[in-house]
Amino acid sequence: MCGIVGYTGDKNCVPVLMNGLTALAYRGYDSAGLAVWEGDSLTLRKAKGKIENLKNLLKESPMSGKSGIGHTRWATHGEPSDINAHPHTDTKKTLAIVHNGIIENYLKIKEMLISHGCVFASETDTEVVAQLLGYLYRGNPLEALKQAVSMLEGSFALAILFADDPKTIYCTCKDSPMVLGHGDNESIVASDIPALLEYTRDVCFMQDRQIAVLKQSGIEFYDEFGVSIQKTPTHIDWDVESAKKGNYEHFMMKEICEEPDTFRRTFEQYVSIKDYTLKSDRFPWNTARAKSFDRLTIVSCGTAYHAGMLGKKFIEHMANLRVDVEIASEFRYGDTMLKNGEPFLVISQSGETADTIAALRRAKELGCETMAVCNVTGSTISREAGSVLYTYAGPEIAVAATKSYLAQIIVLYLSALDLAQKRGEMSQEAVTARLKEMSRVPAAMQKILDNKEQIQFFASRSFAVKHVFFIGRGMDYALAMEAALKLKEISYIHSEAYAAGELKHGTIALIEDGSLVVALATQPQLQAKMASNMEEVRVRGAHVLTVTNGPWEGAKGHSHTQWEIEQMDDTLAPLCAIVPMQLLAYYLAVQKGCPVDQPRNLAKSVTVE
Ligand code: F6R
Repeated sequence: MCGIVGYTGDKNCVPVLMNGLTALAYRGYDSAGLAVWEGDSLTLRKAKGKIENLKNLLKESPMSGKSGIGHTRWATHGEPSDINAHPHTDTKKTLAIVHNGIIENYLKIKEMLISHGCVFASETDTEVVAQLLGYLYRGNPLEALKQAVSMLEGSFALAILFADDPKTIYCTCKDSPMVLGHGDNESIVASDIPALLEYTRDVCFMQDRQIAVLKQSGIEFYDEFGVSIQKTPTHIDWDVESAKKGNYEHFMMKEICEEPDTFRRTFEQYVSIKDYTLKSDRFPWNTARAKSFDRLTIVSCGTAYHAGMLGKKFIEHMANLRVDVEIASEFRYGDTMLKNGEPFLVISQSGETADTIAALRRAKELGCETMAVCNVTGSTISREAGSVLYTYAGPEIAVAATKSYLAQIIVLYLSALDLAQKRGEMSQEAVTARLKEMSRVPAAMQKILDNKEQIQFFASRSFAVKHVFFIGRGMDYALAMEAALKLKEISYIHSEAYAAGELKHGTIALIEDGSLVVALATQPQLQAKMASNMEEVRVRGAHVLTVTNGPWEGAKGHSHTQWEIEQMDDTLAPLCAIVPMQLLAYYLAVQKGCPVDQPRNLAKSVTVE
């Protein structure tokens, strides 16, 4: 989705804003622009397409100044174009504004403004906010902003530069993230943390309808009524380098290669390595509470939903607790059987996904005990959930989630073990044995990464494939869902996940010569059944690639290609088997020349419905 950066300080703001926009590019965008206070006027530069186009424009027509705002726009109202790109101004050019989100009542406000003589240049809802602010402005930016915010419906994060107060940036937001920091003689605001890391790692997150006033000397905060408030900064322990590509061609490959480290880091947060016991106080339930659960509801979107599906398998299998998993956009408007006091868990990498936030708020209204699995400290979900199980994946820049999915399934696996132990379903010894075995998974992952050329070679021969079906049973079916999403989102190859036994109830009609079927068969107790399903597609012309947990002789007659992960406990195998699936998606996308880190039409953090 869109990205915002604003800067005021003693540096030339243009390079700062351009670096910030580059750091946010991963969120997805189709135009970019800047507004800078230059000498005695507001100067704008905007360009459709990549940030490179804006850079070229700045080479032709340079600008400089000590305060400015920048934006990467992901089109919602009006096509991607120079005119629709942000920043926008009011007719009298009293201000320039950048906006993330959607103003739902913009047409009503636009009509009112037109009847008062405003002339609009773009099709955007953002220009409506610019004109509204210009209309309300009587020399006091804070007053105008307070009034405008009270009239806006929908979601917004706004950064504004007023011509009368050119060294100050005004910000406000609702249901759209904004994070601010004060560095050395400079203040900076952005819609996401990576844009701030070079300047400070002590940041403040804005809450709905709060107003921030950024000056070179510091940041003032006000509530929606204009009353001054204090905010305590949150320390972000991500380093600058972790949000950079280094020597990798793509962030996605860097992030896949970081998975063994992500594994160890997340594992060590929840497990005491000296005796392989769970740090039981890190989980949001004590023994009595864990025993009292009849059901756990998990709600999330996309990859995080797939993590929930696998989490369900772990928890039901190990802790003997029923788990319902629902997609957040369905949950938020659907009927619900949830009762007061029931446990409710959301999963979100960003902590800012609009549907997941809405689901969490609904569960709170229903009186549920809310919990979140989340990667971003200080994000909306981490602030609003009753308790948080953090993942320790660090910043994830590629649009396609990889290491964050791994961290989510690790946390869910450990939660399953903790629930199992507290509910009396597993002994301490059994849990310790499992944790010891689990600590060996990163090394098994590393082996796959060290031999990734095998996967690259397979991709080089298969990239022309038109349809890929991922099949599996039990935990492997949950894994297949994520493998299929990864492939389709970055390579644009049509791919679907099916419960292996379900294929013959319809979908097998699609299997033809040259279809690729990836059979995830890491669960030995289900392998005989998988063999039959593999044979059904093989005899209909599919190329069958099988992924197994250690050697499986039985696969030979039924599949053309076999990849083995190192043999491990069945329940742990999915944690490792996701790595070759992510690599397969990556290499197929690269072979096809796709923009791996920023696939078309997608955004990293989906902050609108
Ligand atoms: C796919 C992907 C998305 C996200 C989804 C939820 O690779 O990244 O499907 O998983 O948009 O995002 P979060 O986890 O930030 O709530």
